[in-house]
Parts: sequence; structure tokens; C-alpha cells
Amino acid sequence: MSSTVILKWGGGLITRKSNLCEANYGVIDSLSEICRRFDKNLVIIHGAGSFGHLKAKKYRLAEGNIPGIDQNTGVKEVRNDMLELNSIVVKSLQNHGLSVMTYPPHKWATGTGPNFSGELPIHEGITVVYGDVVDDSEKGFGILSGDDLMYRYATELLDVERAVFAIGGVDGILRVPPEHAKPEDLIEVWSPQMEFEGEHASDIDVTGGIGLKAARGAMIAEKGVDVLIINGEIPERVLSAINGQSVKGTRIVSGNS
Ligand code: IPE
Repeated sequence: MSSTVILKWGGGLITRKSNLCEANYGVIDSLSEICRRFDKNLVIIHGAGSFGHLKAKKYRLAEGNIPGIDQNTGVKEVRNDMLELNSIVVKSLQNHGLSVMTYPPHKWATGTGPNFSGELPIHEGITVVYGDVVDDSEKGFGILSGDDLMYRYATELLDVERAVFAIGGVDGILRVPPEHAKPEDLIEVWSPQMEFEGEHASDIDVTGGIGLKAARGAMIAEKGVDVLIINGEIPERVLSAINGQSVKGTRIVSGNS
């Protein structure tokens, strides 16, 4: 059996983040095209971008049930919007001739954070899951980030070769905010002891931005799996990362090694 790569398609990469429910079809198709060019099993975990964060923020879904506020409409709408983005992703992969199965997390996962409950679904070929609004036994519901799914898939499947976070707009973790960054500000090897002024658009994001990717990446690296954060707008980098070839980006190490 061939080995498995766990690949995140960040929400900021595959959607236009500030325009409600606008997919970036060009990027999605270029990522699908890359997925035809190797024969490893793949778990693709996509983010939400403008299909999730804007309404999740409006209805305060990350906080769970808030007495006195009607959040049911928000839960339904965000789940539906995420199903729509998921179907755009799946159709693109299928149009490229790939064998794909998708498993909406609100149907099989409960709880949020890295210790959510639920058996990880897997398909021989390409498995697709995504950040979603899931039920939660204490809060009623909450936001399960794709970065938490990354952690669980990368550390629980037996044949994982590496975990790759493909993000939009930046080449990896930068020492300074992206608008001030020069090429030398890319951190090539990052461990949790190193600080960085990561961008977290908290006015938009309900999950943790690049900081959450870095934190979950370090937890994955700690279990001995290679972790990379790369710019997914450059498809060749995604291909090189999947194949384990040297690539511009940030390698995450646990700090204990
Ligand atoms: C967020 O998932 C899910 C929702 C807001 C519904 P992610 O945390 O994986 O999303 P991105 O990659 O930041 O958009």
C-alpha cells in the first residue's frame, strides 16, 4: 500500500477571504491538477475562508450556545455554506479524474480542539474533510478547525509520510507581518520556542490563523512526522512538498529533537 500525505488547503487560499462565499476556482483547479501527478494516498483537509468565518463570527458560533441569542440559523447556514465549498472542491478533484470520498465532519465528529471525538473516516485514494460546525456535548456546538483535523489525521493514520499546510498569500511563517516582509524574513525552520508576529485576522477569523497551524504543526512534528507550511498559490511547491523534495517554505520541528 502506498503511503499517505495529509494536506491542508487553507481557507484563505481557496476562497477570497473578505467576500462572503466566494471560491477561488483558479486555485482550487490548480491544486486538483497537482493531485493527479503522484500516486500516494491523500487526505485533503480544507479550511473555510469566506464560507465559514464571516457568518461564524456574526453568530458567535465558536463560543457555543449563548442563552438568549438565536444561533440556529447561523449553525445551519454555515454548515450549508461549508457543504457548498466542499462540493466545489470535490467536483474539481473529480473533474481531474481522481477517486474522492468526502465526509462532512458535523456527521461524524463531536467536540472541538485537538481532542475532538469521532473515528476518522478514510478512503483509499483521496479523502476530503474540512473545518466545520460540529455538535459539542458541553457548548451545544462549536467550530472544529481543519488544523485540528490535520493533527489527528497526521498522528493517527499508520502510514503518514508528511503533513503539508498550503496557505495563501505568504511563503510560510514570517518573522514580521506579511506587508512588511522581505524575502529574508521567511523562517525556514520553526520550533515553538521561536516567536513570530504571525498574521491572525481576528476581525475575520474565528479559529487561530497561522498561529494555530504552527501550534498543531509542532504537535504533529513531535510525533515524528515531517511538517511543512508552504505557499499554495504556487502549485509546483505543493507538488514538491508532497513528494518530499526541497521546497521554499517553513519546516516545523517540535523543539524537543
Ligand atoms: C474553520 O476551519 C471552520 C469554520 C469557520 C466553519 P479552518 O480553521 O480550518 O479554516 P481556515 O483554513 O482558517 O479558513
